[in-house]
Amino acid sequence: MTAIDLRGRDFLKLLDFSAEEISYLLDLAADLKEKKKKGVSHRYLEGRNIALIFEKTSTRTRCSFEVAAHDLGMGTTYLDPSGSQIGKKESIADTARVLAGMFDGIEYRGYGQEIVEELAKFSRVPVWNGLTNEFHPTQMLADMLTIREVFGTVKGIRLAYFGDARYNTADSLMAAGAKMGMHIVLASHEAYFPDPALVETCRALAAESGGSITLTTDPEEAAAGAQVLYTDVWVSMGEPMEAWAERIGLMKKYQVNSRLMSLADPKAVFMHCLPAFHDQGTGIGREIYEKFGMTELEVTDEVFESPQSVVFQEAENRMHTIKAVIAATLGA
Ligand code: CP
Ligand code: NVA
Repeated sequence: MTAIDLRGRDFLKLLDFSAEEISYLLDLAADLKEKKKKGVSHRYLEGRNIALIFEKTSTRTRCSFEVAAHDLGMGTTYLDPSGSQIGKKESIADTARVLAGMFDGIEYRGYGQEIVEELAKFSRVPVWNGLTNEFHPTQMLADMLTIREVFGTVKGIRLAYFGDARYNTADSLMAAGAKMGMHIVLASHEAYFPDPALVETCRALAAESGGSITLTTDPEEAAAGAQVLYTDVWVSMGEPMEAWAERIGLMKKYQVNSRLMSLADPKAVFMHCLPAFHDQGTGIGREIYEKFGMTELEVTDEVFESPQSVVFQEAENRMHTIKAVIAATLGA
């Protein structure tokens, strides 16, 4: 078996990586997590610096990159959604070349996948995708590490996703599952099924890895026997508030609630990339309640707060897995 070497690589989407490379990143993340828990220093990249560009807001991804980089001994510069010239006064290509002259790696969160791909094309240092409309690959590493911690493996796991299946999280789950031999079932309204070309690509990969990709409009069929029930917000960052009315109408039937959980494997867990609308604790949640009378949206508070919910373990794993990506691509 050839040794895995990811030095100098970009991390833009999981489709660019082999199953062995993804497993390597998960192993490295588990090792770094253990070191952190035991207080073992891992300042492998002392004195290096990374730029964090966020054209959309973030809690987990930003904090993960910052804490991970600091644990590795690195400096960070955060460029907030209004704090850079990128795309407005300076092209992506020029920004990439400017930042590559100062930093050892660049994280980008924003809109189209083509932006992060362009940034990577013109940057001579690694570029990491911190979420685009199409993909959220660092989220997938955290999800798979969590699944491995719970079930001991990702291969063969049946994961059912409920809700908007044509956006970053669902599309990335499909790609991750296809690479790693998982059985991914996406339950949604037909209008929110993923791009058929991506489904075809993922099905071809799943045929090689022993996994499968299933699309259904029936939430109960998806939940039956699933080991992971997963959902995401019904309206994503960058989409207009007006989208809620139509989205609620079409997505309500895909809410993850105790009835769906009862159809799943008895050892099933609930996962969510977060943030989640499960109660009235958010401004948008309260606005939705006033307009539509719904107190909880993609997941009920009961499921979110239940012992089956592993969402905070999953959120913590964002940091350990992002640290693995930084360490592996910068050659720690
Ligand atoms: N899951 C996730 O990416 O969270 P943030 O938007 O808070 O970074
Ligand atoms: N689909 C969500 C994911 C957030 C982590 C969004 O893009 O807003």
